[in-house]
Amino acid sequence: MRGLSAQAVLAASILGPSLPVPANAAWADYPARSRIPDSCPDYNDYSKSRHEPFSSGALALPNMRPSPECRTFNSSAVEKVISDMQARLKDPDMAVLFANTFPSTLDTTVRYFDPDLNLAFIITGDITAQWLRDTGNQFAHLYRLLPQDKNLQALIKAMINTESRYIAEYPYCGAFQPPPESGLAPSHNDWADNVRINPPVDNQTVFECKYELDSLAGFLKISRSYYANTNDTSFMNDNWKAAMNSIMTTIHDQSQSTWTDDWRYVSYYNWTGTAGALSPQVPNGGNGEPKMANGLVASSHRPSDDLCVFNFITSDNAMMSVELDHIANMLDKAATQADLSKQARSYAATIRDAVWNTTLNLNGVFAYETNGYGGYYVMDDANVPSLMSLPYLGFLKRNDSNYVKTKNHLFSRLNPYYAEGKSFSGIGGPHVNATYPWPMSQVSAIYGSDDDAEIAQRLDVLLKNTAGLGLIHESVSIYNATDYSRPWFAWANSYFAEMLLDLAERKPGLIFKEDTPYVVGQ
Ligand SMILES: *[C@@H]1O[C@H](CO)[C@@H](O)[C@H](O)[C@H]1NC(C)=O
Ligand SMILES: *[C@@H]1O[C@H](CO)[C@@H](O)[C@H](O)[C@H]1NC(C)=O
Ligand SMILES: *[C@@H]1O[C@H](CO)[C@@H](O)[C@H](O)[C@H]1NC(C)=O
Ligand SMILES: *[C@@H]1O[C@H](CO)[C@@H](O)[C@H](O)[C@H]1NC(C)=O
Ligand SMILES: *[C@@H]1O[C@H](CO)[C@@H](O)[C@H](O)[C@H]1NC(C)=O
Ligand SMILES: *[C@@H]1O[C@H](CO)[C@@H](O)[C@H](O)[C@H]1NC(C)=O
Ligand SMILES: *[C@@H]1O[C@H](CO)[C@@H](O)[C@H](O)[C@H]1NC(C)=O
Ligand SMILES: *[C@@H]1O[C@H](CO)[C@@H](O)[C@H](O)[C@H]1NC(C)=O
Repeated sequence: MRGLSAQAVLAASILGPSLPVPANAAWADYPARSRIPDSCPDYNDYSKSRHEPFSSGALALPNMRPSPECRTFNSSAVEKVISDMQARLKDPDMAVLFANTFPSTLDTTVRYFDPDLNLAFIITGDITAQWLRDTGNQFAHLYRLLPQDKNLQALIKAMINTESRYIAEYPYCGAFQPPPESGLAPSHNDWADNVRINPPVDNQTVFECKYELDSLAGFLKISRSYYANTNDTSFMNDNWKAAMNSIMTTIHDQSQSTWTDDWRYVSYYNWTGTAGALSPQVPNGGNGEPKMANGLVASSHRPSDDLCVFNFITSDNAMMSVELDHIANMLDKAATQADLSKQARSYAATIRDAVWNTTLNLNGVFAYETNGYGGYYVMDDANVPSLMSLPYLGFLKRNDSNYVKTKNHLFSRLNPYYAEGKSFSGIGGPHVNATYPWPMSQVSAIYGSDDDAEIAQRLDVLLKNTAGLGLIHESVSIYNATDYSRPWFAWANSYFAEMLLDLAERKPGLIFKEDTPYVVGQ
């Protein structure tokens, strides 16, 4: 383990925003109904050391859940899934890893929730901001519990309403400050200080405004998942409709070519100023590389918040097309907003065709980024949506021949961001750096595999690379298995737990004492 001061340096250098909140300072303003005691330890610190009881397995993994009075949201439905899984999992270390990761979002990241005002503020973990992408994933493993837990249902609905307000006003931004109604102070983001964004943003509402297409897709995923598990349409209020309107406009604007026929340079959004959060200055007046319209929708930055090389990200578009189809199906089923449904379905088809028609190279491998001029960047970046996660996203089947080729390519030296060490290997990205692959890439690969031996091997890699802490981290060095980034990263924990529940259904014999499937919510 890195010493504390080194960890702080690492935080400043690779985690993006430095953390402005001293231990518990924000909790002091916490509204009574969701307040946890000031005596609770800061989870940033708590997550860096091992806590008893330890598992009886070979790794003696620790129990990393905060003590009950320090948990930010309670759910008996969640507790039942944990005890059900613990009774079934054959490896005691895996049982503890599940028990730590499955409740991580609810235990540690619900900083504000008011069901009456229909507002919530969910942090990512170590970064005190609500990221659309993170929340789109932080709850993905919990939706099936909504029929059993009305309070959890109200929390998701409040999250949708809060994000609707953000998106309606700032569709190009991906990370936000607490709602003013919460009484929580906005956090200062060092990385946003010298940045100029067009259209301009207010830093009392916006924490960071890099335009990332998958942030919007993440919001669609939350909306349709809530509906699918409740049949409740009450979240489609004026805020939601305004957000959907902003999303449709953004999709339209970001599908245009850079050059018009009469050589005007088209720009709906640009990001300039000094370098921010690992992102170098953006060329061409903050617009990035020029693009030629072909049906794909552009993004300025990647899901890792790093600058795109080319602005059409294949996996962002894949996710967007899947989510737009879900939204159209939802609206049709609820027999409401027929025009929006038609528009969503039409964009979904255009984007899907464009992914299949324009992003495969001559070897049948998907490029991560393209520009519509024939420029292909063949690589993968670990953050979901990634190419590795195309089956997880629901874009294609795991046995699709192009996916199989792409996966073999990406888990090899042919991917510039694949790296291998003695104990850890996987796909990373420039966000941390090339020598630190991300556990998330292994989780995505498990979703992309039907091969028992491969799945077992990847699970083993994940289990043995938590730096003995029993939590899933952002990245792990290939040279030193205890050198990792982000001790408190809720989404990565949710994603791991979601994957284990998927295996509980489709491959129970691999992980359980008995070969009997376990289905959450049944
Ligand atoms: C591995 O990384 C940890 C945490 O950063 C550090 O304390 C330790 O000294 C490193 N080990 C080696 C052999 O470099
Ligand atoms: C969760 O339950 C514990 C008791 O088990 C309680 O002390 C705590 O206040 C509850 N947390 C919330 C946010 O309601
Ligand atoms: C907002 O921007 C102003 C002006 O740059 C700066 O002084 C202030 O610290 C910022 N506030 C936050 C919460 O970042
Ligand atoms: C930046 O974006 C704005 C629209 O928000 C546009 O009016 C302006 O021309 C763009 N500037 C550049 C340099 O592209
Ligand atoms: C939603 O409605 C469908 C019928 O359209 C029903 O089959 C399903 O059980 C309902 N789901 C919930 C969570 O109520
Ligand atoms: C794009 O894909 C669609 C559906 O796969 C197909 O019908 C269409 O002909 C393709 N267009 C081009 C230009 O290849
Ligand atoms: C892929 O799997 C599906 C079942 O999910 C099966 O029907 C199909 O034949 C398989 N395709 C190939 C190319 O193996
Ligand atoms: C990756 O990051 C580590 C830790 O900050 C640093 O020691 C190393 O030099 C970096 N490597 C590259 C290739 O940037």
